[in-house]
Amino acid sequence: MPRIDENARDEDFWHAIAERYDVAPGPINLENGYFGRMTRGVAQDYQRNIDFINRSNSVHVRQQFDNTQSLDIRNQLAELLAVEHDSIALTNCASDALQSLIRNYNGLQPGDQLLISDLEYHSVEYAMRWVARQRGLEVIEIVHAHPATYEHLVASYRDAFERYPRIKLMALTHVTHRTGLVMPVEAIVQAAKEHGVDVILDGAHALGQIDFDLKALGIAFAGYNLHKWIGAPLTLGFIYIDPHRLADIDPDMGSERYPEPDIRTRAPYGTGNIPAWLTLPKVLQEHKDLGGSTAKGVRLNYLRDLWVNEARQLPGIEVLVPDDPRLQCAITSLRFTRLQDQQPIVDRLLKDYNLFTVARDGSACGSCIRITVGLATSVDDINQLIKALRELAQG
Ligand SMILES: Cc1ncc(COP(=O)(O)O)c(C=O)c1O
Repeated sequence: MPRIDENARDEDFWHAIAERYDVAPGPINLENGYFGRMTRGVAQDYQRNIDFINRSNSVHVRQQFDNTQSLDIRNQLAELLAVEHDSIALTNCASDALQSLIRNYNGLQPGDQLLISDLEYHSVEYAMRWVARQRGLEVIEIVHAHPATYEHLVASYRDAFERYPRIKLMALTHVTHRTGLVMPVEAIVQAAKEHGVDVILDGAHALGQIDFDLKALGIAFAGYNLHKWIGAPLTLGFIYIDPHRLADIDPDMGSERYPEPDIRTRAPYGTGNIPAWLTLPKVLQEHKDLGGSTAKGVRLNYLRDLWVNEARQLPGIEVLVPDDPRLQCAITSLRFTRLQDQQPIVDRLLKDYNLFTVARDGSACGSCIRITVGLATSVDDINQLIKALRELAQG
């Protein structure tokens, strides 16, 4: 078995991996951040499970899924994260998980402050602002300095905790969808602890492409999905709550479906996508067989570095994420500095170079083009991007 970093450069190996995905003819997809593709094997298993649940209906779901299978699947997820089985509740997506944590966190008094930054996902930001309106709290929003550095990011939180001593709860996004910046979660959580601030972690883009240890990060509350970098069917997510902190989160909408100390009461109520959940064991097996987040992350970063190293040399192009391995991942954004609005470049990338990307705004550092490589991306695809950037940089 070659070393993981050598493996990342092995185009034959990754070509064989790419062959596992059915890809429609059309543009080269460099917007793999929205959600991940399923492999053909997973898609077939999913289809089998749709047919099976359609045939067996509530007879199977009531007798097997509700009582045992869903718990077994939950336990597999807990093992993936190396956390206690009873620290996980299944949801339909990361937004459901995060919004439930935010609305049910019960440690807030009128006059307390909530902290967010300009890099949070909108469903998290909206929920924090909504909770503040409902309960007479104040939202403090910090704006991260640009270009970011590890030290500045941590310092900006320390500074906020010192300036606003009534902050009790904050949102933190492990990987921001706006630019692809990876947050120094452990150091920020440590600073928050020193100031008595609880953290709700948005892990949507982290799971499956970044190696992390939730316990070592010091996280008590987090929300995830499984349809980005793990490769599951759409509509799967989960809540993580440190069992020692379960009492700090109320049952969602007063749920009495399970006894109070059962974390499942913290998930929004509703019938989930059972065929998709039944497919998860196959997805987790494939993830593991490929080498897990470590192998995926090294490959994705290798592809990312190939285009970023070229783009950094081009006049008029700014790459927004620093080349600090602690702060980078598959998603990285760039900007053509001569333009306020980046959409015309996104349009030209598609029309003239057959490259599908997306314009993003909302971060204080301005609008940008988000480039997200994926497991089916090849070095040829990256070379096409480099060619396009070189030509477009000339005006
Ligand atoms: C950073 C971040 N957080 C949360 C979410 C929401 O995930 P979901 O679609 O599973 O609700 C996304 C989705 O793109 C995201 O990028």
